[in-house]
Parts: sequence; structure tokens; C-alpha cells
Amino acid sequence: MTEKHTYAAEGFDWEGLRAHAVEAAKHAYAPYSNYPVGVAGYADDGRLLQGCNVENAGYGVTLCAECGLVSSLHMTGGGRLTHVVCVNGSGEVIMPCGRCRQLLWENGGPELLLMTVSGVRPMSEVLPDAFGPEALA
Ligand code: THU
Repeated sequence: MTEKHTYAAEGFDWEGLRAHAVEAAKHAYAPYSNYPVGVAGYADDGRLLQGCNVENAGYGVTLCAECGLVSSLHMTGGGRLTHVVCVNGSGEVIMPCGRCRQLLWENGGPELLLMTVSGVRPMSEVLPDAFGPEALA
């Protein structure tokens, strides 16, 4: 049974979500960098989503963990991401790379809450003055 999650940072079980990211990192395929990444997030209907990085001999076409998360979001019903945590193979919180901040922005917008290395922050702070869908309207 899933539970509806709100945008409120207070009272949200960030450690629980981080534990799901740690679990996701165990599925990473990272033989080139030896840097597993796991990510976990909630959709606005309460669905839990996870992703891991998947590397390739063509280094430049590596799939970041966030790619899997976003694909899973769409594959399992769509909606918007509300809360996200990324971790490395040691379970430490890491920042999404620049490209993946754009992916998170597209699928959660400015109010998406991200656990960062400097605490819980909205995407509007993690990707200020973002280029987004409205620019193309
Ligand atoms: N990586 C991610 O999965 N997400 C990020 O936001 C940062 C980087 C992965 C890509 C590559 O497999 C490894 O971390 C080292 O860059």
C-alpha cells in the first residue's frame, strides 16, 4: 500500500528513502569507474522508484542512476517526482551530475525536494534559473 507524500520536508522519512537508494546501488553495473550509484525517489502518488548506474565500454554513453529512476517513473504510471536521494557505493549522499539535475527538473520541477550534501533543498536551489519546458512553450 502506498501513501501519498507531500512536498513537506519536515516529518518525511529521509533516512528510509536513503536506505532504498543504498539498496538500489547494489544493482549498479559500474566496472569502469568502480563507482556505484543508487537513487530512490517518490512519485506524487506515493510510488517508490529506484535506479542505479549502468556503464558501458563506450564511457560516454554511461547511464546515470537518475536515468533509470526517470525511466521507471514513466514506465510505472508517470506523475511527478517529489522526493529524491542519490548515494554512492558507501551510502554517502551525492549530488546529481549536471545532466541529471536537468532530468530531475523536467520530472519534478522547482519544488522537488532533494537530499543534498548540504541538507534537503528544492530543485530551484539545486538548479537555479533552470532551462525548462516553459522556455519552449
Ligand atoms: N553517476 C550517476 O549515476 N549519477 C550522477 O548523478 C553522477 C554520476 C555515475 C556515472 C558513472 O557510472 C559513475 O557515477 C562515475 O561517474
